[in-house]
Amino acid sequence: MKRLEGKIALISGTARGLGKAAALRFAAEGALVVGGDLLHDEAVETQRQIGREGGTALTPGPLDVTRPDSVGNWVAEAAEAFGGVDIVLTSADSMRCGSLTEQPGAAVLSELDAVRLAARATWPHLTRSRGCIVTIGPAGGIRATLSHHRTFSSAAEAEVCALTRRLATEGSAHGIRANSISPAPVDIEGSPDDPLNATHPLPDAARRTLPGTPGDIARIAAFLASDEASCVSGAHLVFDGGWSSVLPGPLT
Ligand SMILES: NC(=O)c1ccc[n+]([C@@H]2O[C@H](COP(=O)([O-])OP(=O)(O)OC[C@H]3O[C@@H](n4cnc5c(N)ncnc54)[C@H](O)[C@@H]3O)[C@@H](O)[C@H]2O)c1
Repeated sequence: MKRLEGKIALISGTARGLGKAAALRFAAEGALVVGGDLLHDEAVETQRQIGREGGTALTPGPLDVTRPDSVGNWVAEAAEAFGGVDIVLTSADSMRCGSLTEQPGAAVLSELDAVRLAARATWPHLTRSRGCIVTIGPAGGIRATLSHHRTFSSAAEAEVCALTRRLATEGSAHGIRANSISPAPVDIEGSPDDPLNATHPLPDAARRTLPGTPGDIARIAAFLASDEASCVSGAHLVFDGGWSSVLPGPLT
């Protein structure tokens, strides 16, 4: 028996990155995956890959996680096609960089909306299925970063973790679990966030941590979505190979 056999899993951001990795992993674990992304054609390609690997997936149409009507249609199509929703994984995001004076405050709202709208639209289904929510709240929400500014995005990431805890509290009466994951940077070679980049301020510390891959994060998400985690709710799990616990300094 696979870990997510027959579970109906809505995953946002399935065109790329962690959302795509999660869609592939959840399908391999037996879930019926309903994906969605602004980049619809790439999300459909993920769906095709799942099909080629023997899994089941659906990508109803272009999804904008910041628009209630788009999220509402996505959830309605999933429920109609498969008969309900068991799991919601929110991975879609457009990270916006900028300092206090550069970055529009609207960034906070759109990152929160990506979770809030999906949770609200799926809540009646999750109540029926005693389902679960997994959110991805980057490590920027628990530590400030030196590599580039993202003042409001970091605030939004912390808010995502706080909202997830709140969903866990409200959901407990209905058997709904909610947990958030904070991964360290993965799959970002060449970006200013890559700790192994020569221009990164903390390369020595980075060399002493354990790098992860999108597949590693997807496996953790699959665990949290599975019955193996039936007593895990309201947790904020940091999976960063030790990165956030290291102080900068020369290697000895
Ligand atoms: N990659 C990392 O190193 C890392 C580390 C920590 C946390 N995270 C977090 O994980 C999540 C996913 O990151 P990623 O690296 O996979 O990003 P990514 O940019 O590779 O993928 C994000 C996906 O979301 C889609 N998207 C963006 N805005 C959307 C919208 N409004 N509606 C629908 N789809 C939309 C994009 O088209 C893209 O396919 C984000 O919340 C990110 O902040 C990533």
